[in-house]
Amino acid sequence: MSVVPNSGNGKITVPDLLQRKTQAAGSPSSFQKITCLTAYDYPTARLLDEAGVDVILVGDSLGMVVLGHENTLSVTIDEMLHHTRAVRRGTRRALVVADMPYGSYHTDLADSLHNAMRFVKEAGAEAVKVEGGERRLELISRLTEAEIPVMGHVGLTPQSVNALGGYRVQGKTADAAEQLIRDARAVEAAGAFAVVLEAVPRELAAQITRELRIPTIGIGAGPDCDGQILVVHDLLGLTFEQTPKFARQYANVGEIISKAVREYCNDVREGGFPSDAESYHAPQATRDRKTMFIDS
Ligand code: KIV
Repeated sequence: MSVVPNSGNGKITVPDLLQRKTQAAGSPSSFQKITCLTAYDYPTARLLDEAGVDVILVGDSLGMVVLGHENTLSVTIDEMLHHTRAVRRGTRRALVVADMPYGSYHTDLADSLHNAMRFVKEAGAEAVKVEGGERRLELISRLTEAEIPVMGHVGLTPQSVNALGGYRVQGKTADAAEQLIRDARAVEAAGAFAVVLEAVPRELAAQITRELRIPTIGIGAGPDCDGQILVVHDLLGLTFEQTPKFARQYANVGEIISKAVREYCNDVREGGFPSDAESYHAPQATRDRKTMFIDS
């Protein structure tokens, strides 16, 4: 696998992220928030990495924002491996985390471990992410024992969309909030190095963030988490569906692409592209021969 060589300068590692939280325990104002974004291909990974994002998640949101599926459930391991390799090749500083897709860790432990190892060995992932809290205790312990750093994911877990009955804010009742706290604690106890909190009330996310020793990474979980993650297509304005209210759009790249393509089509149709300067020229001697490119 060819990877952009590591400059050795400021490479983000799992211990770095843990240390950021530990060191800031005494003085929360010194804590530098963790920046995370998704990426699925080489150029995006390079741009994110060079812009200084700390963690790049090859999310199984791939299924929806890149492959056009209705949800994430049909994404396969082979698709995730393919995209993780591309992201790894474009990343030099950020920590690369690969999302384990639905079905790749839901059968037995041996199978799940084998699948997680493929992300490390075949795609260069530095960690994997799995969805679920208490029910993933054994799995997360097994993966961390095998030296695979694990990022947990609790709250709204998109792979449970059918069980949850839709994409809804989680932890809104007292019982649900208690369960979410138990889930986050279980993920930490099992050895995860960070946990994504998705679509949970900000007060609950703040409480979990205060309690856990590992960093919390919020998405739709308010500003008090230790870090934030967004789907890069939402941030760039490259999605076609309505996005949730937490998905702030920082640019409208979709509009830029559409405008460029419309201009190109117009130029081709009107003869404005390519110009003479954008064309190759035959040497004068061959230009004078009438049968320049034709064998008689
Ligand atoms: O798949 C994904 O992109 C994710 C993030 C939104 C956390 O799981």
